[in-house]
Amino acid sequence: PVFTDDIEAILALKRERNAVILAHNYQTPEIFHCVADIVGDSLALARKAMTVDADVIVLAGVHFMAETAKLLNPGKSVLIPDLGAGCSLADSITASDVRLMRQRYPGVPIVTYVNTSAAVKAESDICCTSGNALAIVESLGVPRVIMLPDEYLAKNIAAQTKVEIIAWKGHCEVHERFSPADIRELREAHPGVTVLAHPECPPEVVAEADFAGPTAAMSDYVGRHKPARVVLMTECSMSDNVAVEHPEVEFVRPCNLCPHMKRITLANIRAALEESRHIVTIDPGVADRARRAVERMLAI
Ligand code: 13P
Ligand code: SF4
Repeated sequence: PVFTDDIEAILALKRERNAVILAHNYQTPEIFHCVADIVGDSLALARKAMTVDADVIVLAGVHFMAETAKLLNPGKSVLIPDLGAGCSLADSITASDVRLMRQRYPGVPIVTYVNTSAAVKAESDICCTSGNALAIVESLGVPRVIMLPDEYLAKNIAAQTKVEIIAWKGHCEVHERFSPADIRELREAHPGVTVLAHPECPPEVVAEADFAGPTAAMSDYVGRHKPARVVLMTECSMSDNVAVEHPEVEFVRPCNLCPHMKRITLANIRAALEESRHIVTIDPGVADRARRAVERMLAI
């Protein structure tokens, strides 16, 4: 009941402004289930952003996702309800760091996780998400690639390919906190529990999980296998959102909160639509090069 006013106002504003709301899987259930038009993981949001037929896109997620939506929709107004919704991975690397890596490893292609600024993407050869990283790395047909900036994603992909991967030292502040000891305790406390881990978790965690994949793959896994008990080693709202669709499955916590994702609320989505804020802009010189890296990824 507390949310009803904001939900009704947002639905009306979307019609008035010809706006759509894209929401990441880590958004809270009232955003994910009640006001979003398009939901998904980072890859799905990037793909679906290309097909949006609206004047305004509100990105309920973090800043790099809003930038990606803007790169793919240069003529549309892209809004992010809170400019402070950042990401520890995006903050771990700058464009000049990428230039230094290129100097240090001449001729080695640079694959950049979408969890980066447009300026970093602009210095890269191609982007990837956790859902397509292996395919992207192998598509390049080279023995060695640089993969930035998530050290754990890079190591988790390296374990699945013969391609040598040079990593950076960035970490997701949500996923780096899970440990193999957490998994052992969970298995002891909840016998038979199925453990699904995100590839941003440390490799020791992925090694002890039953399955590792991006948020969309976790959701599919629950739908396909319908485990009696499951734990999603990822951001808390993920379990809340998937649980709504699978009341027969017991979702075991713990989980970790992403403070950046949690900055987005119904109240600031409403304000974004009412006041056209905050408009995402990207320097045109940066945008053309960053778009090329994202489009190369989407073509694979
Ligand atoms: P995916 O949705 O691509 O799995 O990414 C997870 C994430 O941490 C996004 O911020
Ligand atoms: Fe960044 Fe991790 Fe938060 Fe995703 S969950 S936005 S990777 S800090």
